[in-house]
Amino acid sequence: MCGIIGYVGKENAVPYLLTGLQKLEYRGYDSAGIALQTSEDFKIIKATGRVSRLKEKLSESTAKSMLGIGHTRWATHGEVSLSNAHPHLSYKGIFTVVHNGIIENYSALRDKLKDEGYPFVSDTDTEVIAHLLERDYNGDLVSSLVNTIKKLEGSFALAILCKKAPDTLILIKKESPLIIGKGKDGFLVASDINALSPFSEETVKLNDGEIALITPNRISFYSPEGNETFHSFRKFSYLSKSAEKGLFSHFMLKEIFEQPKALKDTLQHCFNEKEKLKNELSFILRPHNKAVRIYLIGCGSAYHAALSGKYVFEKLTAIPSEAVIASEFCTADFPVNENCLCIFISQSGETADTLSALKKAKEKGAYILSVLNVSESSAALLSNSVIYTKAGPEIAVATTKAYTCQLMVLYFLAVLSAYENKLLNDGDYQYYINELNSLPEKASGIIERQEEFSKFAKVLSAQTAVHFIGRNTDYVAALEGALKMKEISYIPSDAYPSGELKHGTISLIEKNSLTIALCSNDSVFKKTANSIEEIRSRGGDVITVSSEKHTEDLSALQRKIIVPDTDDLFVSLTEAIPLQLIAFYTAKEKGCDIDKPRNLAKSVTVE
Ligand code: AGP
Repeated sequence: MCGIIGYVGKENAVPYLLTGLQKLEYRGYDSAGIALQTSEDFKIIKATGRVSRLKEKLSESTAKSMLGIGHTRWATHGEVSLSNAHPHLSYKGIFTVVHNGIIENYSALRDKLKDEGYPFVSDTDTEVIAHLLERDYNGDLVSSLVNTIKKLEGSFALAILCKKAPDTLILIKKESPLIIGKGKDGFLVASDINALSPFSEETVKLNDGEIALITPNRISFYSPEGNETFHSFRKFSYLSKSAEKGLFSHFMLKEIFEQPKALKDTLQHCFNEKEKLKNELSFILRPHNKAVRIYLIGCGSAYHAALSGKYVFEKLTAIPSEAVIASEFCTADFPVNENCLCIFISQSGETADTLSALKKAKEKGAYILSVLNVSESSAALLSNSVIYTKAGPEIAVATTKAYTCQLMVLYFLAVLSAYENKLLNDGDYQYYINELNSLPEKASGIIERQEEFSKFAKVLSAQTAVHFIGRNTDYVAALEGALKMKEISYIPSDAYPSGELKHGTISLIEKNSLTIALCSNDSVFKKTANSIEEIRSRGGDVITVSSEKHTEDLSALQRKIIVPDTDDLFVSLTEAIPLQLIAFYTAKEKGCDIDKPRNLAKSVTVE
């Protein structure tokens, strides 16, 4: 997703802009650029590809300035090219702008500007903003900005330079995030808080529609109507140490290894929040309240966590629960009302599809409980209640520790709800809590066997497709395993409920085709074993992932991965970890860019 950085202060802006862009790289991008306010003009330098190429270009120029903006572009409108890279310049060069978001009415605005004689040099929606800023400029900066904002529909975080205000960094924020950090000699602005470290530990987030004008010594805030407003800076503690790779070759591997501690910290946090959660979940904890319905909503891996949570909530609380993909929640008409609990799951808390679904559920009166990994994210500010995963900053685009921590939170919530709802006696409650407490250690035991999983890389990297199958909570692991495999190794991977295989997809099975069969869930083991035989009898290869208790049942299968036994409800978590490592080693074998896969963004802040 696009990233914005901006600096205004008493020092050279270039090092701050470049460091900030490097910290934003994990969001995913395909080109980068910066604009510097020099005494008489803007100095704009862009590059396609990595920030390192931009850095090379900058080293050839002696450009210096104490005011500048920078951008990493994840293409939404227009191909990857220098002309489409940000910053964009207005027609007469009065304004230059970088943008994160999508202007939904850009086409109509573009046509109108073209009719008025404005020439366009790019295919982007952002260039429309640059020309509008110039056309609307009436000598008073704030009222001009307000006029332009009124014309824009969609999401936009903007950092702007204006020749008429050569000492001012201009910010406008609507839906896409913008955070301001105060340093000792200036201000640094970014799309996410990690890009501000270690420059400052006092930050403030702009509210929707707000404008900020920042000079080296002063910052002014304005409402969408142009009235001056006020914000106070708040202390923010970074976890920047854990946002470094350390001794690991990749962030993804480091984050896989961090899971045992992340899971332990997350579960401890759940226990710390238990009383608060009991109060907030009171309406679903009412004994046998039939009116209640639970929706679990997210995108990608967060949706897979939602699906695992659905199985656990329904099994333990008997409350109708539905896992919904956030973008689907926005397009269909789910029966949502004040008797519904909507659990939104998001690592970043900035995913546009998830935020849209959250706003829709809130409008319908549902209680919004979000499971997030980033505090003060947009989703956090919109929710009735938040329970945080304690995974720490997750830099690799492919989620690992945040995902398994999401599962841990959902499992705890379901167990707590069932116990408070008198659907679990003390003994059963203690059994499930003990099982949750054992998961970090079980995760650690799996990770220690990483060499075993690296051996699958050769056969997998040679595949043109990999199939994943499983039933119930095994199916969740199949979905997440397929997503990990395709997003970092680019091998087409699909996941099916194993019972579905014979209803069409078994046509894909042929001699030497490869299927990974998840079969740790005891209650459905025999059914999945039947599916495995259906595959093998057609010459297909099978790698099984199963719990210790089924080792002898699978003795005929030469390639099997054994995971520690756990309750059927929690196998999505134990099975996720070997599949993360298998995907990692397969992608490594193929020489893929594991931490920053092509076309992908860590947080998709456009719908
Ligand atoms: C998972 O590896 C992907 N990075 C992606 O599916 C991700 O889970 C999804 O985009 C949701 O992101 P969020 O958790 O930040 O909302």
